[in-house]
Amino acid sequence: VYKKLAKPLLFLLDAEVAHHLIFSCIRVFMLIPGLSWVLRKTYQVNHPDLARNVFGIDFPNPVGLAAGFDKDAKLFNELSYFGFGFIEIGTLTPKGQEGNPKPRLFRLPEDHALINRMGFNNGGVEAAIERLRRGKGKVVIGGNIGKNKITPNEKAISDYEICFQALYPYVDYFVVNVSSPNTPNLRALQDKAPLTALLSRVQQLNQETVAPKPVLLKIAPDLNETQLNDIVEIVKTTKIAGVIATNTTINRNGLRTSEVEVERAGNGGLSGAPLAKRATEVIRYLVQRFEGGVPVIGVGGIQTADDAWEKLEAGAVLVQVYSGFIYEGPAMIKRINKGLIKKYTRKP
Ligand SMILES: Cc1cc2nc3c(=O)[nH]c(=O)nc-3n(C[C@H](O)[C@H](O)[C@H](O)COP(=O)(O)O)c2cc1C
Repeated sequence: VYKKLAKPLLFLLDAEVAHHLIFSCIRVFMLIPGLSWVLRKTYQVNHPDLARNVFGIDFPNPVGLAAGFDKDAKLFNELSYFGFGFIEIGTLTPKGQEGNPKPRLFRLPEDHALINRMGFNNGGVEAAIERLRRGKGKVVIGGNIGKNKITPNEKAISDYEICFQALYPYVDYFVVNVSSPNTPNLRALQDKAPLTALLSRVQQLNQETVAPKPVLLKIAPDLNETQLNDIVEIVKTTKIAGVIATNTTINRNGLRTSEVEVERAGNGGLSGAPLAKRATEVIRYLVQRFEGGVPVIGVGGIQTADDAWEKLEAGAVLVQVYSGFIYEGPAMIKRINKGLIKKYTRKP
């Protein structure tokens, strides 16, 4: 239904307008009594081979919704009915901010890809925790945190502190996001000294809590080998729980979409199918360097069970999707999970 009916109509609209329309539709439809039950029955796949415990958290299946789709924690419960094993909200910043001027989200249909330069548009962490407080159901929730655009990098730590402390009671794991290409200089926080300082401080706050929560680092696919080696070292020294690889890329190589159209979209992060190969390379490299000791969540270009399997075979413990959800629709999660069950049962 999504691909034949909803997608052709939605793709006539500006990508961000379509996103908001989908949000509103899901919210309105959920007022129909019993619909959440029907959706759960339709989309959720329960199978012991899919369930796993990572960082001490039980995940019903390994397929999560990546950050950026439900930035403001407005729809996490409803989205969970579509069969996701976990949902990552954010990126949230201390203060609400508009993000970059519109248009800032573009489809590249020939490539099953998106280019976005949203720029952490969100209503601020306090507004989000109000919704989390009221609405937290059973789904595993990750809290992805960042810094406001106006906060200089020298003061970035305090933005992450504010978000960590506000969200602590309401999320199951944290993601320190230093890899969005759309906040000026944010990715400089991936450098050794600032990243060590940032993660050490978040870990310090975490250790002061009654029950520390897993803290993960989300990295860009555009890091070179030396930079990845630095990440490995920093993860080990700060003893964070894991890594999410990867965020969107600034690379535009190998696209089917014409150069003119790509240029028309302009700056921003590319996600979807063209990102898959590089994201898998980064995952494989990190897993090898960690020697299995640090869990890696794989994200980038997953649209089918084979794509998800590729990430899991590269050593990812869980996967996440964003662009695939836009191109393939809600049935994708079920298809991936069903496909994974087949792969697991075929495996000796
Ligand atoms: C419109 C859009 C907004 C995004 N916003 C965020 C964000 O706020 N924080 C973040 O960590 N990642 C964000 N991402 C990146 C995704 O979480 C994911 O890492 C990336 O899209 C690669 O996965 P995909 O190929 O399945 O889309 C965003 C992606 C898109 C397309």
